[in-house]
Amino acid sequence: MRYPWFRLAIFIVGCVFPAWWLYEAAMNLLGPDPGKIMMDRLGLGALTFLLVTLSMTPLQKLTGWSGWIVVRRQLGLWVFAYIVLHILCYLFFILGLDWGQLAVELRKRPYIIVGALGFLCLLALAVTSNRYSQRRLGARWKKLHRLVYLVLGLGLLHFLWIVRSDLREWAVYAFIGTLLMVLRIPAVGRGLSRVGRKQGRAV
Ligand code: HEM
Repeated sequence: MRYPWFRLAIFIVGCVFPAWWLYEAAMNLLGPDPGKIMMDRLGLGALTFLLVTLSMTPLQKLTGWSGWIVVRRQLGLWVFAYIVLHILCYLFFILGLDWGQLAVELRKRPYIIVGALGFLCLLALAVTSNRYSQRRLGARWKKLHRLVYLVLGLGLLHFLWIVRSDLREWAVYAFIGTLLMVLRIPAVGRGLSRVGRKQGRAV
């Protein structure tokens, strides 16, 4: 296994945040509505992990270090894990497992439908993230995994719909997301690789 320490560090980072929030909830440190606070933090955590995941390829091009690519899949799975927990918090703490209320919520809060579409895309990415699916799907695997860009778009739209009044926090996520998308443009990506190679020669 390559870069085991880097993998372990990412694993620890992924576990530490929910464990810390759980501890805060157990200690009554999250205020009167800990379920909602946990849900919001998990949503933001997932979006942050998504941006970090998308920055691995540009970082690899810029530095030439393959460790970034080695942890990319694990980071993507953390996005999925955080979203599953985000949804579970919603179902337990907001909906109180009242399925009748879900139809009312979907009509009242259409951003939940946007979030659910994002989740379905993430589910498709998570179940096909293994080597076996990669081999079986061949060239189609790469095409399927472009769904990650749609997840970013849906996640940002879902978030924008919720914040509406104070857009500052959303704007930071949207700016980084847009920048990472620009870095995916083939010509820009080639430029990054050139810069990376030049730096490599200079060292
Ligand atoms: C079935 C899927 C989903 C459901 C039911 C859901 C539900 C919710 C709800 C109810 C809120 C709080 C709204 C409020 O404050 O009034 C929320 C917030 C949020 N969600 Fe989701 N969500 C889903 C999927 C996603 C996905 C796929 C992402 C990102 C990749 C995401 C990221 C966020 C973020 C960033 C927030 C805002 C947190 C904050 O205000 O601090 N959610 N979600």
